[in-house]
Amino acid sequence: MKVTVAGAGYVGLVTSACLAEMGHEVTCIDIQKEKIDMLQSGRSPIYEPGLESLLEKNLHNKQLNFTINPNEAYSNAELIFIAVGTPEQHDGSADLKYIHVAAHTIAHYMEQDVIVCTKSTVPVGTNELIQQIIDSRKPPNLRAEVVANPEFLREGTAIIDFFHGDRIVVGTSDPKVAAIMEQFYQPLQIPIYKTDIRSAEIIKYASNAFLAMKISFINEMAGICDNVGANIEEVAFGIGLDKRIGPHFLKAGIGYGGSCFPKDTKALAQFGGHLNQPLPLLDAVIQVNKRQHSLPIVKAKELVGSLKGKKVAILGLAFKADTDDVRESAALTLINELSVEGADICAYDPIAIPNAKRILGDSITYREDIREALTDAELAIIATEWEQIRHLPLDVYLTHMKKPIVIDGRNCYPLQAIQQYPITYRSVGRPDKTM
Ligand code: UDX
Repeated sequence: MKVTVAGAGYVGLVTSACLAEMGHEVTCIDIQKEKIDMLQSGRSPIYEPGLESLLEKNLHNKQLNFTINPNEAYSNAELIFIAVGTPEQHDGSADLKYIHVAAHTIAHYMEQDVIVCTKSTVPVGTNELIQQIIDSRKPPNLRAEVVANPEFLREGTAIIDFFHGDRIVVGTSDPKVAAIMEQFYQPLQIPIYKTDIRSAEIIKYASNAFLAMKISFINEMAGICDNVGANIEEVAFGIGLDKRIGPHFLKAGIGYGGSCFPKDTKALAQFGGHLNQPLPLLDAVIQVNKRQHSLPIVKAKELVGSLKGKKVAILGLAFKADTDDVRESAALTLINELSVEGADICAYDPIAIPNAKRILGDSITYREDIREALTDAELAIIATEWEQIRHLPLDVYLTHMKKPIVIDGRNCYPLQAIQQYPITYRSVGRPDKTM
């Protein structure tokens, strides 16, 4: 099919590349010319494992092209995916300005009947709003059907998630449209759940809120483990054996970040307020996570007292491993708090430094080499579970740091390994080790 994807961000680019890989003729449109120029030359503006090669392959075989021209993108599209950003506003609600622009532009340039699928995470009622905007501006003789089709892609594994996701959700009231979407996705052999539009919109928010809740729950249990000397990894394993709980998303650490959980939990909480229906559980998930981001500062002060003038190495800037995305990263919260304390900060990350620099500027120093970042440090804080950190020979902390004091915010090291070394080591919800 001739498919257009509106938005060349994390979701739009992965969706474009994977739909092209499925054999569709895909046009991806974005308003940022420099981004489109970069993509036309085969380079990706974001890091996502496997994305660049998929883009290059499908650009080369003409399955995929990029444009800023809305007429080229929308006039003869059979299927359009809206994958534009819905950033958080000051009150926590989702900013729909890019959604509005996409809907107006589609209506203006469409020249044939079209199905419009919303992949962006949008508050309940937004797909109906998109339908109204398009209906009020499209040529009267043409039809546009709007479908809620949320994505469940994780950064770092997005291409795997696209081809091997647990389910595809299709929200529409028109059985014929549902059948078309079922046929469109059939080659993926992934269960397709057809439901109404509003339920589909809530499924997305509820999924992310529930996953965020699991993380805040295990982090709250980690606090109890810290107090009584138990081990949160043992607890997580023990509760995860219950099929009703499951083993996934029970990894304690310094909390969740990224462009989704923080934004979507706040948007859902704000939506509850809008409905005059408080969501205290969600509020607690958000509060626990906020506190968790600062946990290493509490542990650091217990260990070294004042942080003023101390050289602190932050290992990891990305919000999780295998991405260059630093949005809402725990590392940024830590760096801001350490800066207030007057610490001298040096941050390591294998790929996220350029994105971090755009936010932090030159207020700290950056190193793409862990050993350089650790050199003469009096404290190291692990904020991201990069493989390069998890597999670092532990004696490096002894040979490069002024004082081998490590606060591990992602429980990267097995306790029995770290206990072989004269390192003062703190982690999350596991017994302390002090030399
Ligand atoms: C998430 C959802 O998983 C995905 O389905 C949705 O489409 C987008 O949002 P993403 O934010 O990219 O994906 O990454 P994810 O792997 O879910 O991690 C989110 C955050 O939670 C990261 O900061 C990660 O470090 C943290 N996390 C995850 C934990 O702290 N503990 C865990 O057990 C799992």
